[in-house]
Amino acid sequence: MTTAAELATAIPKAELHIHIEGSLEPELIFALAERNGLALPYASVEALRAAYAFTDLQSFLDIYYAGASVLLHEADFHDMAWAYFLRARADNVVHSEVFFDPQTHTSRGVPMATVIQGLASACERARGELGMSAELILCFLRHLSEEDAFATLEAALPYRSHFIGVGLDSSEVGHPPSKFSRVFARCRELDLRIVAHAGEEGPPDYIWEALNDLKTERIDHGVRSLEDPKLVAELARRRMPLTVCPLSNLKLCVVSDLTDHPMKRLLDAGLCATVNSDDPAYFGGYMNANFVQTVQALQLSREDVITLARNSIEASFVNETRREEMTAMLDAAISG
Ligand code: HPA
Ligand code: ZN
Repeated sequence: MTTAAELATAIPKAELHIHIEGSLEPELIFALAERNGLALPYASVEALRAAYAFTDLQSFLDIYYAGASVLLHEADFHDMAWAYFLRARADNVVHSEVFFDPQTHTSRGVPMATVIQGLASACERARGELGMSAELILCFLRHLSEEDAFATLEAALPYRSHFIGVGLDSSEVGHPPSKFSRVFARCRELDLRIVAHAGEEGPPDYIWEALNDLKTERIDHGVRSLEDPKLVAELARRRMPLTVCPLSNLKLCVVSDLTDHPMKRLLDAGLCATVNSDDPAYFGGYMNANFVQTVQALQLSREDVITLARNSIEASFVNETRREEMTAMLDAAISG
């Protein structure tokens, strides 16, 4: 009998919370800087990696936005996403919904077309060469204004067929979801799927706002929901998925040790929690590293592992044919 950790590694699953700019490994940052004739403020790959000692979300975001500044051309975006898909597929991720932050690039003068076409062609390649399904979700940076978010949406609409939904990320505290109610109302009119980061560092009230003001279909992180029993009951009643990122929570000091991580409590509360890597190049691991370390730290059972994989399929924005296909793959892997 395989252990729960071995099972977690082997089974097919979906990844629903991965920022593609957070998959830029230091080696690729250096390679792209060289290719684009850019100087970096770090002497070596090792020196850059050594700077990855974060104390909170903002201390990470400062380095994350700096790393993304090497991305200039369509091929850069393609190569970054392709490297992620190869790693995800090696971890038996069969479906991935990939966040991207256009404002990080358009604010540096990179055209929206360059960003979206580079990422979309990598998704297409992943479908063709890796047999995965892959989709894009455009995230608005919440530290910027509502007006900037509206302008970003407008600029992206010519490429509407290349992304399935919108999200909300960056510095959470002080930038509640309600700041973007009108932008998300417009996105719903456009039939975009709706997600938002809430309850990573921000209070449970931000999760209520994401649900009620933005009308989110999933909550990204949501770990602070456990502080509000009424909210937990509502999330369970709605079967609202939470895209939880254990190694991110550890590296950004949301939890002080993985043995304190709320994943088991979320599952025991009956919530539709999933495992995801968030920014794997910065937080020390991709999908399977997140699964294995969480299983070991919390002594999760084989049943917990199967529930987490099933939740990821249930929470995916795929059509029912693809959902049944992924469910059949999971069932075959469990019984095999
Ligand atoms: N939280 C908020 N914004 C982000 C994150 C995160 O974990 N990763 C990349 N942008
Ligand atoms: Zn995130």
